[in-house]
Amino acid sequence: MSTSGPGVDTHEMVLIHRLIRREFGQLPRLLRSAAGDRARSKVIGAHAREMVSFLHTHHSGEDELLFPLLRERAALDPELMDRMDAQHEQVDNAVTGISAELPGWTASADAAAGERMAALIEAMMPTLIDHLAEEEHKLLPIVSVTVTQSEWDALGKHGMSAIPLTRRLVMLGHITEEADDAERQTFLQVVPAPARLAYKLIGHRQFTRETATIRR
Ligand SMILES: [Fe+2]
Repeated sequence: MSTSGPGVDTHEMVLIHRLIRREFGQLPRLLRSAAGDRARSKVIGAHAREMVSFLHTHHSGEDELLFPLLRERAALDPELMDRMDAQHEQVDNAVTGISAELPGWTASADAAAGERMAALIEAMMPTLIDHLAEEEHKLLPIVSVTVTQSEWDALGKHGMSAIPLTRRLVMLGHITEEADDAERQTFLQVVPAPARLAYKLIGHRQFTRETATIRR
């Protein structure tokens, strides 16, 4: 698979997908670990809410800013695009169910509600994993030669603007957590210089401290 090469470099989406796989993969365990523990459900609830909103924004950005361009311009298998839409819908349904339970559970740490959310995530994971892989293997190479740099940048901006300012450095830590040095350097190039410096000085430490508390 190549997400760089001629055309727009779409590799940053692979970094975003890694975050989504990693964080949703461990959410069921984290939700269960907080059963009956309201101090912990506050921490895990805030984390889950942030991740659910990140996933929702990622998909809505693609629905609004990317898929319409592909349908319009690329000779894509219509079945592939229909499958992408159907997968988004399936994931969205699970996300809606989780979002409905999350505020109550965050306050109560109710074991049954935590279990229901964990089960919803586990049920959606195979679809989500297939979807992300198919997007990377089949869609991104086409995206790279179909959209302009500014159209691609608009997708990134849509994602970034949905993250509250006070959370951007921590999310930067999440996005680059599994990146190798070259990937990290390339990704950080699109980050404004002051934010890059702030990440070095405080953001990375904040991310490490937060995730250690969440994942213990
Ligand atoms: Fe994506």
